[in-house]
Amino acid sequence: MLLAPQDSHPRVLEGVKHHVDEVLMKYGYDQSKLIAIFQEIQGRLRYLPREVVEYVAQKLRVPLSEVVATITFYHQFRLTPIGEFVFQVCYGTACYLRGASEVYEAIRMALRGEGITLEKARCFGCCSLAPVVMVVDTRINERYIHGKLSPQEARKVVMRYLTEAQRRWDA
Ligand code: FES
Repeated sequence: MLLAPQDSHPRVLEGVKHHVDEVLMKYGYDQSKLIAIFQEIQGRLRYLPREVVEYVAQKLRVPLSEVVATITFYHQFRLTPIGEFVFQVCYGTACYLRGASEVYEAIRMALRGEGITLEKARCFGCCSLAPVVMVVDTRINERYIHGKLSPQEARKVVMRYLTEAQRRWDA
């Protein structure tokens, strides 16, 4: 059974509905474009709020269970809010052996506010730079590699991105 989004959490949906409608229109409400539709919506909203998922399912006339199964299958989709930047600390072998845990801990301790989301990740394929942290700018979906990081350097990197997140919110 599809949930009527207007009956569930209207305020969340209201704020972003124009984005979702634009994307749905761009793809002609085509069920076969489900992945592309959610990619673009996530690109705009930075994650997929539950109300939006329900709304899209309803508009595309696809059972909600099918939509949820699809988006939870792909790791690229985020169902919870994230910060302006996602710090992905590589826990591959080379990075682990060269201090990934210490770097992760230094970042975790330096975090404040909602600007940065911290995650562990697998090898990025640039092991010669170990330990490596990839920073994803969730607004523009750009990725930046920071390599050979000591815990102290990692803290400085966090400060730089926190400042940038604050600047964006103040703008
Ligand atoms: S092990 Fe970290 S980039 Fe390969």
